[in-house]
Amino acid sequence: MTERTLVLIKPDGVARKFVGEILGRVERKGLDIVALKMLTVSEEDATQHYAEHAEKSFFPELLEFITSGPLVAAVLEGPRAIAAFRQIAGGTDPVAKAVPGTIRADLALDGQQNLVHGSDSPESAAREIAIWFPELR
Ligand code: CMP
Repeated sequence: MTERTLVLIKPDGVARKFVGEILGRVERKGLDIVALKMLTVSEEDATQHYAEHAEKSFFPELLEFITSGPLVAAVLEGPRAIAAFRQIAGGTDPVAKAVPGTIRADLALDGQQNLVHGSDSPESAAREIAIWFPELR
């Protein structure tokens, strides 16, 4: 089933010059990039995006990190796009969870500065796409 997912290349990914590397992996997987932009996110939008983590102890640090500099936001489309991107991203913790061959395992060490975000469900994807790409509605 064709679906859409919201992907972020977080500020660490841009700073480390992995935009091409990560988008290349997305394209090699066969997913379509249907929208793409670079921006520095406001605290308000970042808070909305990460609303489900608002009560977590790491939330203030996460907010500071995600607003710290330019990031790349993309909408990907393809069959099972949500699971497909999460597969190539690897688990949240690049060392304890991500499997070698994934973006996070191959390129990251830190559980927070882990290069990418991908929506975890169709409901999250719809909610997140509306935050990052209101012009697509
Ligand atoms: P992401 O997939 O964008 O979803 C929530 C983000 O919170 C996650 O990637 C990490 O960047 C961050 N995160 C998750 N767990 C932790 C943690 N235990 N400590 C710090 N940051 C975390």
